Order: sequence, then C-alpha cells, then structure tokens
Amino acid sequence: MTQDMTGRTVVIIGGGSGIGLEVARRAVDRGADVVLGGRTEGKLAAAASELGDAASWHTVDTTDTSSIASFFAALDRVDHLFTPAASYQVGPMLELTDEAAASPFTSKFWGQYHAVRHAAPKLSGDGSVVLMAGAASVRPPAPAPAYVACNAAIEGLGRGLALELAPVRVNVVSPGTIDGNLWSQRPEQVREAAFAQYRRDTLLHRLGTEGEVADAVMFLFTNGFMTGSTLYPDGGYALR
Ligand SMILES: NC(=O)c1ccc[n+]([C@@H]2O[C@H](COP(=O)([O-])OP(=O)(O)OC[C@H]3O[C@@H](n4cnc5c(N)ncnc54)[C@H](OP(=O)(O)O)[C@@H]3O)[C@@H](O)[C@H]2O)c1
Repeated sequence: MTQDMTGRTVVIIGGGSGIGLEVARRAVDRGADVVLGGRTEGKLAAAASELGDAASWHTVDTTDTSSIASFFAALDRVDHLFTPAASYQVGPMLELTDEAAASPFTSKFWGQYHAVRHAAPKLSGDGSVVLMAGAASVRPPAPAPAYVACNAAIEGLGRGLALELAPVRVNVVSPGTIDGNLWSQRPEQVREAAFAQYRRDTLLHRLGTEGEVADAVMFLFTNGFMTGSTLYPDGGYALR
C-alpha cells in the first residue's frame, strides 16, 4: 500500500540531484512538502521548479555548522530527513594526502552528524531520519580504506542515533554502484572500469538505479517499525 504523506515535511540535504531528487519526486507524489538543501542555487531552483508548489529550497553546506544551523532555523518542523549530501576524495592510503583521506569523514560522516544534530529539536516524534552510507562498508571494491571506514562508521552512527533519538526512527541506506548523476560526472574510463567490475561482482550482474535507492529510502521513511537498520540496495554485491 502506498502511504499518504499529506501534511508531512520531508527535508533532503543533497536533494537537488541524483538519489535525493528521486526521493523528493516520490515524496511530492505522495502529498508531502519537500525542502531541498545543497550548495548550488541554480541546481536547487531547477529541481524545485520541476517539483512544483510543494517544494522549497535553501542553500546549505554540510561542512559548515553555521550554515547547517541557518538552514534548520528557517524550518518550522521536520517529519523526515534524508542526507545524501557529500563530496570527497576516494583512494589508497599510500596515494592520498591526509586531507584527502579525511574528506569522506569531513563531508559525509560529520556532515550528516551535524545535520541530524541541528534537525533534532524540530524532528516530529513519529518522524524519521535516513542516513546515506555505501556498500563499500562491507565489501571494498578497490583500495580506499578511509572511504570504506567512513561508510561503516555511518552505519554505526545510524544505530547509535536510533537509540538516542527514539521514538524518532533512524535508519541507513547503503547502496551499491548506481548508474546516475554521481558517476556521470567521473571520467569515462574510470566509470566504465568500475561499472564493468560491478556487473561482474554483483549477483544481479547490473548497476542499480537512483529510483531503486529512493524506493528503499521511502520504505524507511514510512515503515513505522524500522529503526536502527541498514538496507543494502546493491543487487547482492555485499554477499559475494
Ligand atoms: N551513486 C552511487 O553509486 C552511490 C553509491 C553508494 C553511495 N552513494 C552516496 O550517495 C551520495 C551521493 O548521492 P548521489 O549518488 O545521488 O550523487 P549526487 O547527485 O552528486 O548528489 C549529491 C548532492 O549533494 C550535494 N552536496 C554535495 N556536497 C554537499 C555539501 N557539502 N553540502 C550540501 N550539499 C552538498 C550536491 O549538490 P551541490 O554540489 O550543488 O552542493 C548534490 O546535489 C554520497 O554520499 C555517496 O557516497 C552513492
């Protein structure tokens, strides 16, 4: 059964593109109001214009806590929060600078931690949070130890926050490789090599879609008995 979300406010930091925008489309289809966050005005304005009157947006940079504080100060309430916003470098320990190696933690881990911290006073008691991790947490596709550890840490953060914020529900989505906006911006040679490896290594022999991840997020938003869990929309990648 499709759950009606009329009257609910869904906040998506990183909602101007990719998986976040797919979640926004689904939430609006179910009657919710959505608030999009991200760093680029033009991208947010275009996404909100596609979504119609139910959508609004504010710029925010999740690596800057004062920017996150201003973002949430402008909101009256938050029923559901999804935080796929992140930008970072990935690579082997012996090749990355310390700053580059720390970037997944700076942006993806602490960015989501601070977003939830500032959202918490406005979260409805029957609301929920979905954090974004990545299935590299349990099966590294290539040497990138800090990125792998960051995703595992986010899965742990979800369990820790579920305990602290109950009855607000907190879950994590940890996708495999998705043929979408993020990878479309990476160099073609890198992308095609990663895609070929993923097709070979996952049980379903294909990449995922942004919509398939968004469906998992909507499930976590709306199933009232899901908390402290991590879902892996990954075509069985983590099993092999
Ligand atoms: N796509 C995959 O294969 C895959 C697989 C596993 C996990 N993930 C995770 O999914 C997330 C990316 O989502 P996506 O694949 O849908 O890619 P995406 O389209 O690049 O979405 C990321 C969004 O976050 C925003 N953003 C980036 N850094 C930000 C910051 N510091 N503050 C605020 N907004 C920021 C970006 O917009 P601006 O640049 O305009 O701010 C963008 O709209 C990442 O955490 C990634 O690790 C993706």
